[in-house]
Amino acid sequence: MKLCMIGTGYVGLVSGVCFSDLGNDVVCVDKDKNKIDQLKNGKIPIYEPGLSELVIKNYKNKRLTFSSDLKSSVKNSDIIFICVGTPTKKKGSSADLSQVFNVAKELSLSINKFKIIITKSTVPVTTGDEIEKILSKKNSKNKFSVVSNPEFLREGEAIRDFTFPDRIVIGTNDKKSNKILKNLYSPLISKGAQYINTSRRAAELIKYASNAFLATKITFINEVANLCEKTGINVEDISIGMGLDKRIGSRFLRAGPAYGGSCFPKDTKAIISTADKFNTNLSVIKSVVKSNENRSNILLNRVYKILNNKIKNKKITFLGVTFKANTDDMRDSSSLTMIPALSKKGAYIKYFDPTGYKKEFKKFKNVSYVNSIKKSLDNSDLVIIHTEWNDFKSINFKNINKGKKFIIYDMRNIYLPSKIKSQGFKYYSVGR
Ligand SMILES: NC(=O)c1ccc[n+]([C@@H]2O[C@H](COP(=O)([O-])OP(=O)(O)OC[C@H]3O[C@@H](n4cnc5c(N)ncnc54)[C@H](O)[C@@H]3O)[C@@H](O)[C@H]2O)c1
Repeated sequence: MKLCMIGTGYVGLVSGVCFSDLGNDVVCVDKDKNKIDQLKNGKIPIYEPGLSELVIKNYKNKRLTFSSDLKSSVKNSDIIFICVGTPTKKKGSSADLSQVFNVAKELSLSINKFKIIITKSTVPVTTGDEIEKILSKKNSKNKFSVVSNPEFLREGEAIRDFTFPDRIVIGTNDKKSNKILKNLYSPLISKGAQYINTSRRAAELIKYASNAFLATKITFINEVANLCEKTGINVEDISIGMGLDKRIGSRFLRAGPAYGGSCFPKDTKAIISTADKFNTNLSVIKSVVKSNENRSNILLNRVYKILNNKIKNKKITFLGVTFKANTDDMRDSSSLTMIPALSKKGAYIKYFDPTGYKKEFKKFKNVSYVNSIKKSLDNSDLVIIHTEWNDFKSINFKNINKGKKFIIYDMRNIYLPSKIKSQGFKYYSVGR
């Protein structure tokens, strides 16, 4: 099949390259010419394990191409995936759909034969209806079909998630499109993925409801961790004890910093905003958002307490600043709240992240990037393990800096408290 991915970011690039690896001809389009030029030169603009090899392989065998010419790419394709960003609006909390609607307007001028137009971007209920209206202005309805096919991949595990998804959700009432898409996804269905055909609106809501539910799980265990800290209980025992119940499940039940990233924060707000539009109060999700927004303050207060409220001139190390491991994505990472707050109080912050320097901290004079774990620990008073990269899981704190002692605040509960304490370090973690 000839596919066109519009938007070559985390979702468009990963799904595009995976579709090409399954034998389809795929063109990945982006309005960012620089990104397209980089990709044509074999440079991958994002960090995602395994992506580079797969892009180069499929680019070389010519099943994968890159372009900034949307019109001709669409004209030459049968199925168009819209994979552009849907961030929170600058004013308010609803999803900013301007990128999606701009693409729809461009598409409406490029439909030369029957096309299936798919929203892979996460879009609120009724967005498909709006896209259909835009396309209908310039095209007769038998020339296109608008389908919702939300993407569930996780950054850091994106290729595996795309290739072995739990489910493939296709939101359409159009039998012809459903048949074509079932065929497109048949290599994944034959490996065990469940294929679900729903209404378009249901598919749109499945994505938001799923993300809101996962965000709720994280927030739930974070609040339980607060109680554990007050009662001398190890939250890891609670996670295991709860997670073994199949109705609950153990994933997304690990206490830590506020959830962040490019999806949960914006999607929880957007589903609330959609529900408000339809006079429905999603009170559970509203309290999740509020609790998560306060999470960084709770962890910061713990930092202040650990340092006896003497923050000025303290040397603080951050190990990892992205919102989670195995990605370079900084969007809504809790480090973006915590580092500026500590810097404002006069601390000197050094950070090391396996994905390198982050422009987000450029404006802070007392925040600097160092290129190794060892350098980041030099003369540190407090080491904060912010992200659970494998690189941080077996640091020999005792030997790494000539036995110099610092305090460790392990926000991911990576280490066994007794082991680190026995090496003479003051050690704090979350909910235990
Ligand atoms: N990142 C994830 O883990 C993830 C997972 C599932 C779903 N999603 C959803 O997928 C969507 C895309 O997310 P992302 O993280 O890939 O975004 P991203 O910001 O990484 O990529 C979006 C790309 O779209 C391009 N773009 C914008 N307007 C364009 C236009 N008119 N023509 C061509 N290109 C255009 C941008 O230049 C950018 O490269 C969002 O709705 C997001 O919620 C993301």
